[in-house]
Amino acid sequence: MNQPVMGGIAALNAPTYVKQRKLISWVAEIAALTKPDRIHWCDGSQEEYDRLCAEMVAAGTMKRLNEAKRPNSYLACSDPSDVARVEDRTFICSAKQEDAGPTNNWVAPAEMRVTLNALFDGCMRGRTMYVVPFSMGPLGSPIAHIGVELSDSPYVAANMRIMTRMGKAVFDVLGAHGEFVPCVHSVGKPLQAGEQDVAWPCNPTKYIVHYPETREIWSFGSGYGGNALLGKKCFALRIASNMGREQGWLAEHMLILGVESPEGKKHYVAAAFPSACGKTNFSMMIPPAAFNGWKVTTIGDDIAWIKPGEDGRLYAINPEAGYFGVAPGTNTATNSNCMASLTANTIFTNVALTDDGDVWWEGMTKEPPAHAIDWQGKDWTPEIGKETGRKAAHPNARFTVAATQNPVIDPAWDDPAGVPISAFIFGGRRSTTVPLVTEARNWVEGVYMAATMGSETTAAAAGQMGVVRRDPFAMLPFTGYNMSDYFQHWLDMGKKIAASPAELPKIYCVNWFRTDENGKFVWPGFGDNMRVLKWMLDRLAGTAGGVENIFGISPRYEDLKWDGLAFSQEQFNTITSIDKAAWEAELKLHAELFDKLKYHLPKELAAAKEQLEKRLAA
Ligand code: OXD
Ligand code: MN
Repeated sequence: MNQPVMGGIAALNAPTYVKQRKLISWVAEIAALTKPDRIHWCDGSQEEYDRLCAEMVAAGTMKRLNEAKRPNSYLACSDPSDVARVEDRTFICSAKQEDAGPTNNWVAPAEMRVTLNALFDGCMRGRTMYVVPFSMGPLGSPIAHIGVELSDSPYVAANMRIMTRMGKAVFDVLGAHGEFVPCVHSVGKPLQAGEQDVAWPCNPTKYIVHYPETREIWSFGSGYGGNALLGKKCFALRIASNMGREQGWLAEHMLILGVESPEGKKHYVAAAFPSACGKTNFSMMIPPAAFNGWKVTTIGDDIAWIKPGEDGRLYAINPEAGYFGVAPGTNTATNSNCMASLTANTIFTNVALTDDGDVWWEGMTKEPPAHAIDWQGKDWTPEIGKETGRKAAHPNARFTVAATQNPVIDPAWDDPAGVPISAFIFGGRRSTTVPLVTEARNWVEGVYMAATMGSETTAAAAGQMGVVRRDPFAMLPFTGYNMSDYFQHWLDMGKKIAASPAELPKIYCVNWFRTDENGKFVWPGFGDNMRVLKWMLDRLAGTAGGVENIFGISPRYEDLKWDGLAFSQEQFNTITSIDKAAWEAELKLHAELFDKLKYHLPKELAAAKEQLEKRLAA
């Protein structure tokens, strides 16, 4: 257990099973800078998790939920200023600014180090520093990589145990010389002697910093989600995208699902959607009743690491071991598998607490509870909600749950070899313009579609909601280097696969979110997305029809299976039509994007745009 302070410096306390000198001296160096009272090396055991949670309950950070209703589950409510990823405080500190590119905030590394050194000096005083070893991906998989997070937040340590393969076994894989990504995190609220802690310590000053060349992550001031659980966006996307570029693989903001036909033919597809656009729902989808015998299973719901195998095909793993999903809107109709996953052993953050000690969020049930305590600890009733517009749960309220609790987890989800990818899907949230589904005619056209994707913003990031922003590959906040170089990397990966014996995965662009003149969604979405997925699989098999449109191939009404759904040709037309004026306006926005990204923008993409313009004009 934790040793007391010795002469003002916390005892390092490294367990004997930690064999790596470099790691131990790094922990010592960070402890000397941040000056925690205690150091705890996480072993990842259930006993340790239970103790962390009990300590957080005692400190007021979490509440234990009603054991009979939601066993071994907790509710944490954050400070109202710390509720989402802070993209404007996120930095890629590459040696050269052009390597961060125009879509990332950049500060010279030496300058940032001076700023951070001052902030981190003594920032863990009065707290415990947790040493959190984790593997992104199955332990020892050739597609996986290891990180170690040093954090003064027990909430982070507990969440990392759910979200990653965390604990003692990681040190065995690491051995004396293995590589790890060092991640330093502080909530930025040191405690003076005798000072009473607050329930959710954080700091108004926030920095989420990545040094791509030295592959380091430093995060200060926030305890929330992607700002603090550094395995997720910081490592698995921003740092890993740099590793993938150098080493010839892909780190993507994609779910991975398995889909099996009644005849037993199985494919895996990877799909990129911006934050809070339904990746978790899609990855756990239940096909409509008329699709008897079709099965959808989950490999991952948010991030994919994809490496070429010896046969030239792309193999994907889910680097995470849990889901940190958006709670509002999740219910037994939109995602019944997810609801089944959340029945026990779950940490909820920023949802409402019901009078019987359970949780509730907007959209969870048709009837709201008559009374609840909202995420800010205030009384909430449906009437108060109506009068004031105040939500019971924060729109970016989350659940953290182990992937193993998902009733439709794919049997290969933990396979170190990964699963072969047959198709990539890219989808934004667009109320207009972009049709339901389009197949790219070739890899370059697919990369163009992904690169120019736009989406209406959601609550997952702090800032204005509902405005269309270009979100290339759903990676705008997550590509850890110059976006144009990232496009080039995708084009290069295509060339590499094309030169191998393997077939190139097909690329699709989808939009579930078109609305009618009253602003209502036309497409039912959720399980009915299976109809679109089946068309894609039939295209892979060469058995489905389609017509060419200005930017690819789309299904005719008769190419989709409609059994069990009343959806007219007219409705189909509303969500598949290509409006010339809307596309002329859209292409102007592509031009703006390309102008912003002109440094290193691949020529193939500029050429693809010209062809698109010609087809539109014809
Ligand atoms: C997430 C996000 O939390 O994309 O997955 O913001
Ligand atoms: Mn995400």
